[in-house]
Amino acid sequence: PLVLLLSGPNLGLLGQRQPEVYGRATLEDHVEAARAEAEALGLQLEHQQTDHEGTLLEAVHGARTRAAGLVVNAGALTHYSWALHDALAAFDGVVVELHLSNPAAREPWRHTSVVAPVAHGLVAGFGGLGYRLAVRAVAELLAQRRQ
Ligand code: DQA
Repeated sequence: PLVLLLSGPNLGLLGQRQPEVYGRATLEDHVEAARAEAEALGLQLEHQQTDHEGTLLEAVHGARTRAAGLVVNAGALTHYSWALHDALAAFDGVVVELHLSNPAAREPWRHTSVVAPVAHGLVAGFGGLGYRLAVRAVAELLAQRRQ
């Protein structure tokens, strides 16, 4: 089974971008951790990062026919992209929302997630560890579905 890890705007700058908030690891480091976790759990992982909302939507559309699960860190799009909400609503597999930081503990505009209502659950605030936890959550939910 394939898990698609999607990274939204500005996440390509991880490592350099506000390291006091997001840490010093790069996106590539996080992808490697997620991939190692996926492989250990018998899953395949593919990653895509984009700064463009439409590209993210197309990635979700494409996932409909080939991915069993999505791990989505949509960056700031999390807080206002109803188009992303609708795209995820059309995906039948498992969806886990992911954030490095804990948006609930930050500025009020980060407290709303339009992804949350169409996700099975949320992993936030654990920094890079979240990538492994999110993949683990997808694997466990897929196993439950098979029972
Ligand atoms: C983020 C949190 C968002 O509020 C922010 O816009 C990001 C990163 C996180 O991983 O903590 O770009 O999704």
